[in-house]
Amino acid sequence: MDGVVKKSGRRVQESDLGIRKNQAMIVEGGKIQWIGSNKKIPKKLGERSTNKARSFDLNSKTVLPGFVECHTHSVFAGDRSAEFEMRNLGVPYQEIAAKGGGILHSMRKTRQAPEAELTRLTQSRVDQFTKQGVTTLEIKSGYALNLKDELKSLRVAAAMRGPRIVPTFLGAHAKPPEFLDTKEYLDFLQFKVLPKLKKSNLSERVDIFIEKGFFPVDEARQFLQSALEQGFDVTIHADQLSLCGGTDLAVEIGALSADHVIQLGDSQISKLAKSETVAVLLPMADLYMKCAYPPARKLIDAGACVAIATDFNPGTCPSQDLALTGLLARLEMKMSLPEVIAAYTWNAAKALKLETQVGFLATGTGADFISIESDWNQLFYSAGNLPISTVHREGREIWAK
Ligand code: NIG
Ligand code: FE
Repeated sequence: MDGVVKKSGRRVQESDLGIRKNQAMIVEGGKIQWIGSNKKIPKKLGERSTNKARSFDLNSKTVLPGFVECHTHSVFAGDRSAEFEMRNLGVPYQEIAAKGGGILHSMRKTRQAPEAELTRLTQSRVDQFTKQGVTTLEIKSGYALNLKDELKSLRVAAAMRGPRIVPTFLGAHAKPPEFLDTKEYLDFLQFKVLPKLKKSNLSERVDIFIEKGFFPVDEARQFLQSALEQGFDVTIHADQLSLCGGTDLAVEIGALSADHVIQLGDSQISKLAKSETVAVLLPMADLYMKCAYPPARKLIDAGACVAIATDFNPGTCPSQDLALTGLLARLEMKMSLPEVIAAYTWNAAKALKLETQVGFLATGTGADFISIESDWNQLFYSAGNLPISTVHREGREIWAK
């Protein structure tokens, strides 16, 4: 991935993936100590590994960085399949939400769920990601919308086994019924919740859903500025259903990422391209919502760093399928396969501020890697099917076929 790193994930081409044959890798202490031709293993390191370490012959397999799934809402209880049927028969998402369904339906179930039950539910979802090659997984809270159960959700995220977990506080997902208006709720989050969250060390990231019927951009600006001042990184659910200033705000305040970014005009595209804010595209949610796909080609050609993710959640994307996500990026957004691979590795790591540690294979980085049975061009080709053989996080096998 040398070229991807060098170009900061912008305008990635096949040659940037740095594909090499007959390579070897020495891993110690969870990190890659050396990587290079299997005929040139440094004698000292090679001897050390034959004496003390196990060696694996991956033979004809292809090794690449573990996938970084940078946007999920994996902690929730309950099920919204009935809502899917309603939406599919023509009832708008915002109308269901305004009547207390949608996010608020998941909120009631998530508040009620005991921590152990929520942990069990979430772990089985995380395992689903692990076997698809995910070694770093972002998990948002945001289905409890009160202090007690938002913290419960973040503790559940922290307790997950398998991939590295990056927990994000999404208290500002929707206004819970206890509050009169969004301003009152955001003040509560800013003054009461964020300071407690900081002390708890349960999350270093704050997200908000800027949208009509959810949170307006001016209130979001004040809330996120305070989050930054309180020492959090920020990210935004931006311009998903309508263009309402989320992407502009993300660039203005230096958010790590702007996610969804469907309804963009040329000015937002050019701002993103000139910024360090990663554009996180979530095409499976767009498939389920039957809305337009984001302008991936324009973003990439303008020079933006583009990542992709599932957006797995109980409402707008009840699927965890990475293969389909990447396939939609190729089919519907006309991204090339090297662009998709970068979008699911280094570029996604950048969205999580982990770009010096994961998402590429080089001396000194985390030994988070996967092996696949086939050539790399079989990736993101067959929906529902990634040809994963083994998954390692920090040098330890966390899944094998
Ligand atoms: O990313 N856009 C906001 N949040 C989620 C969906 C929330 C829900 O419907 O439960 C999303 O699509
Ligand atoms: Fe989301």
